[in-house]
This record gives sequence, structure tokens and C-alpha cells, in this order.
Amino acid sequence: MLAGTAGLVPICELASGGMGRVELALRGEATFRRFYAVKRLHAPYREDPRVRAMFLEEARLAGLVSHPNVVSVLDVGEDSDGLFLLMEYLDGAPLSLLIRESARHGELIPLSVCVEIALQVSLGLHAAHELRSPEQGEICLVHRDVSPQNILLGFDGVVKLTDFGVAKALGGGVETTAGLLKGKYGYMSPEQLRFEPLDRRSDLFSLGVVLYEMLAGRRLYDGRKGPEVIVRRILDDAPPDIGDERDDVPPELCELLFRLLAKNREHRPASAADVARELQWMHSVLVLEEEAVSVEGVVNEWLSEYRDRRGREIEQGLDALRKHAASKRRRKRALIAAACATPLVGLGLGLLIFAGSSSGSGSGAGSSVGSAASVAAASNANATKVPAAPKAPTLSKAPAVAKPVVAATRVATPAPAADAGASSGSGASSGSGVGVELGAVRTIPADAGRATARATVSPSRKRRARRVRRRKRKSRRAASKMPLWRWK
Ligand SMILES: Nc1ncnc2c1ncn2[C@@H]1O[C@H](COP(=O)(O)OP(=O)(O)O)[C@@H](O)[C@H]1O
Ligand SMILES: [Mg+2]
Repeated sequence: MLAGTAGLVPICELASGGMGRVELALRGEATFRRFYAVKRLHAPYREDPRVRAMFLEEARLAGLVSHPNVVSVLDVGEDSDGLFLLMEYLDGAPLSLLIRESARHGELIPLSVCVEIALQVSLGLHAAHELRSPEQGEICLVHRDVSPQNILLGFDGVVKLTDFGVAKALGGGVETTAGLLKGKYGYMSPEQLRFEPLDRRSDLFSLGVVLYEMLAGRRLYDGRKGPEVIVRRILDDAPPDIGDERDDVPPELCELLFRLLAKNREHRPASAADVARELQWMHSVLVLEEEAVSVEGVVNEWLSEYRDRRGREIEQGLDALRKHAASKRRRKRALIAAACATPLVGLGLGLLIFAGSSSGSGSGAGSSVGSAASVAAASNANATKVPAAPKAPTLSKAPAVAKPVVAATRVATPAPAADAGASSGSGASSGSGVGVELGAVRTIPADAGRATARATVSPSRKRRARRVRRRKRKSRRAASKMPLWRWK
């Protein structure tokens, strides 16, 4: 559950990896409805201080990057399920799936689509590399895990880079544990494998591997042969020629791939922006030559099964949510009905008592006090309980109702005769403020109003009030004789 993630309701799981999972969550408020992706750690890692630090570092760095080709991290927090990262949801699929599907169908991804995906990734990557913060200035961020799993293809054709989980800001943040490699071996640059200090060009090597795999429709440095074989091949083998895999690749693209996959970073392009420029130029030429094939078209055609399955999962999740909300509403209605039923019983009883008192003889005083007490008790929520009032001889017929009466003040002095008359005269009026006479103790509800106050006004106070009124009348008269200009 996303308790604490303010209004977010989990819908379904999007992915689950070694360290954590990503789930789809919905936030809905009236007509507002938006999906988010929420990333969490698996239970065994939740309390690990090193993993927590990495997670928070991912949130910090990714949260700073703002670019259409980078998945936005909107928030980070912690609830009963541990730390979570709130991200924009990308309705799409990872590039790894497209490459797999292309291999499964024995088809190659159209050239222009490969170039366009690589172009969008390089733009996002450049934004990450160029990241600056108001406090630190230049951050020199290196993603360190550019791979097909971390490149998301939207069904609308937008490509986004994600997962800054092992990203590193040079000279700051969480340090890499000596001897521990983070990221996927098959996409690591030679310098990364040699534990050398990294710069942005390390990510360009990984981008080269990704571009090669898209074009070839297969892994370049295959992980199935074990990490030692991969490491040896990345360090020692000459960069492969994509022209051997497909013959529609223009020489400029072959040459760019050679440079991206160079063992020596000095031979690679200087920045992702340079790569983007070259790819942009190639793309514009390819679009003129090739039949217009877009990322959107290919993703929707090749991954339609995945898209539909995801759609069904989301619909099922929403359905479960709707059912849950409906049963909650039903339970609430039942509770309200039960709560309403009780006062109705009370009101019915009250009416019965009232009918009995008006028709019966000799029970007038007792019943009226009784009904007043119940009305006062019902209407005066703030009233305090007084100890059981001593039974007066006149109340002997209604002792049970008169006992648990509410009152704010206890007046120990004997009540004046007029008050006694008022209190015993009408039950309803005593409920709306007039004191309720209970034998020797006179109780007044907390909201006792002016009627009670007036009944207990002393003669000297009356005289003072009369004097004040007279003074006011006099000043009003004087004001009316004043010339008009005085009022301007
Ligand atoms: N914002 C998102 N929108 C949609 N799917 C996402 C999003 N973030 C991650 N995913 C899915 O979850 C997978 C794993 O996410 P990632 O951040 O790479 O986690 P990990 O650290 O486990 O690799 C991605 O490959 C993608 O399929
Ligand atoms: Mg990942």
C-alpha cells in the first residue's frame, strides 16, 4: 500500500528487478486523474543504509534533471513500505523488449527508427551530463547504466532515459565501493571495467553498445558467456563493424559507431550533444530516403500485444479499485443508516412520552422535566454531566428520565419562584436555555441564553441599564441637531 503517498493508489506492478520494483499508481481528485510510476526497494534492502543512501542519491540526481527525454522524478518519500520514488509514468515499453521482439520475429528495426531512438537518448543524456545545481554548480553527472532496459519507448513515440540508480556526480554523493561494479557488464566502458575515474564519454560507449544492438537485433557483449568473457571482449576485442550485420547502414553511421565503441575515450565524440547533431543530420537524410517509419508506428505495431496486456492489467486494477470504493460506500451507507436508526428510536420514544404526558393527569411536571432533560441532553453536546440529582417528591413519577441531566452551572441558592414556574412550565423551553429545576439543585444547560440571564438580573443592574439607555437617547438627539458639514 502507498500509505502516506498522499492520495496515491497502487494499480498494478510495472516491473520487478533485483533490488526493487516499480508499480503504477493512480492519483485521482474529483475529475483529475493521473498515473504515476512508484519505485520501491524490496523488503531486504529497505533498512540497508548503503542501499538507502543510493536510493536517495538517485532521487536527488534524477530529480534535478528536467528534460523531455528523461523520466522526471517528482518526489521522494517514505511510508510503511519504506522509501519510494515518485516518477512520471511513461505509457510505453523498454527498448530491451523491442529488440527482443525484433529478434523473435527475425526482423530488423528500421534504420530511421534506430537513429531516432539513439538521437532522443543522446539529447536526454546530454541534459544529464550538463546538469548544474544552484548550490554545487556543475555536477558532472555520469549515468553509468545506459542500457536498453533503462530506455523507455512511449507509445506516443517519445523516448526517455531512466534509472539514475547508479548514476554518479563526480566529486560528490555516494562513493562507489572499491571493487564493486555498478551497472550491467555488457554495457560498461573499458575504463568503467578498469575502475578508472569516469566522465561523460563512458556513457557514450554504452550508448554505442545500445545503438549497435538496436541495429543488429542482438546482444553485442552477451552476458550468457559469463562476466569474465564479457570483460575480456570489451577490453581487448576491436570494435565491431555494424556493416557486417546489415547492409543498409550508411557509412557515416558505421563510422560514428566505431568512434562510440572506441576503447580509448579520447577517440570518442566529446559529448552527447555532438552525437545528437550527427544523428539528427543522418535522420533527416534517412527520412527523405526511406518510407516514413516512426518510433510511434513501430512501437505500436511490434509491441501491440504488450500494450494490450498492460492495458488489460490497468483496467483490472482500476476495476478492483472501483469495486473496493463501491463496497466502502455501501459500508458507509449501512453505518449511517444504523446511526440514524438509533435517534429515530429515541425520538419515537420521546413522542410517546410526550403524548402520554399531555393526555395523562397529575403527571405534568414530572413528564415535562423528563422530556426537557432528554431534549437538552440531545441538543447540548458541550454540556457536562452532573451527578445524579437528588429525587424531588414532585419528580417521583419520572425518576429515570430526570437523572442523567446535563448542566453547565449549578446554582446552589434556591431558585426564585418565577424561574421555577418557567422550568416546570414547558419542557421544550427549558431545553432551549431556561433552567431545569431538579429538586434542590437547579441545573442550567451550558448554552443557557438570555432568558435565564434576564430572569436573574438584579435591580441595581436594571437601573444602570436604564441610565445607559437614557444617555444614548440624549446623544442621538444632540447628533440630529448637528449641522450637516460636521458629518462630511
Ligand atoms: N516512469 C516509468 N514509467 C513506466 N515504466 C517504468 C518507469 N520507470 C520504470 N519503469 C519500468 O520499470 C523497469 C525498471 O525500472 P528501473 O528504474 O530501471 O529500475 P531498476 O533499478 O530495477 O532497474 C523499467 O525497465 C520499466 O519497464
Ligand atoms: Mg533499470
